[in-house]
Amino acid sequence: MSGAAEARPKVLVARMLLPAGMELLAERCEVVEGGLDVSSERLLELAPGAVAMVADPTVAVGGELLDATGPQLQVVANFAVGHDNVDLDACRRRGIAVTNTPDVLTNATAELALALTVAAARRMSEAEASLRAGRWVGWDPGAGLGLELSGATFGVVGMGRIGRRYAELVTPLAGETLYVSRTPKPEAERDLSAVRVELAELLGRADVVSLHVPANPETTGLIGSAELRAMRTHAVLVNTARGALVDSAALARALQEGEIGAAGLDVYETEPDVPTELLQAPRCVLLPHIGSATTTARDGMARMAAENVLAVLGGSEPPNRVV
Ligand code: DGY
Repeated sequence: MSGAAEARPKVLVARMLLPAGMELLAERCEVVEGGLDVSSERLLELAPGAVAMVADPTVAVGGELLDATGPQLQVVANFAVGHDNVDLDACRRRGIAVTNTPDVLTNATAELALALTVAAARRMSEAEASLRAGRWVGWDPGAGLGLELSGATFGVVGMGRIGRRYAELVTPLAGETLYVSRTPKPEAERDLSAVRVELAELLGRADVVSLHVPANPETTGLIGSAELRAMRTHAVLVNTARGALVDSAALARALQEGEIGAAGLDVYETEPDVPTELLQAPRCVLLPHIGSATTTARDGMARMAAENVLAVLGGSEPPNRVV
């Protein structure tokens, strides 16, 4: 990558990268940006010749885009910790490294899960909508009654980085913390008194169920009609992970029929489309995938994505390799 006369390596930023990452890349590379509203057709036009690509959760990186980019592509740096938008097998087959951005967004995402927990438990969206619409006619002892969280049983599904941080944040409130994980987490058990159980037991006992597992074939549809029926009728479901984990039609029905108490969602199966039935469901707080949207997290993610690209192009091991 050195030598004044040498062409600078082309990096395709599929949509956009914040300055914290862009400035690092621009020092050594020719960066081509697709822009926030780039179409998949336009990406195929921009891709040829890129040696590195920066993608994000909205960019499907599969065989067609990889082939259009060409055999010189060395790395797909995903601007996210999740990487379900990237066809890992297709990258593996072509010898392309895939990287992600763990850790830097852990606090932001866990904090948003906590915010959604409180907002859904206390029915804040409905209450605010009613106030803004001028329907508040005065203090009403029976209106907007929600779930008190002090002493509640919290159920954490997935005790990775974000699940663990969420469990830490709710510990001052929790009467009990249950968790589901493929492997035991002795530190969470020791430090947070978390108890590992099967999903069925967690769903039956928890007052709050918060999802923190990645989307993959094993977790797709993890929470469907049967699981929602197994939850307590006052329980709150929180999803800041991926929309594919929850059957949204079943969730909307469960809310309509009072099978569960409330839901707080930041992610959807077909973003940015939010299923109409969820928009119409009661006791539901809906946010537009802003889990990692703090300046600290997003700057960290941008820097990390750029550092992963530069490591691969410089011939070293990228710090956050997935594949
Ligand atoms: C991630 O990193 O996977 C997040 O969903 C992006 O906010």
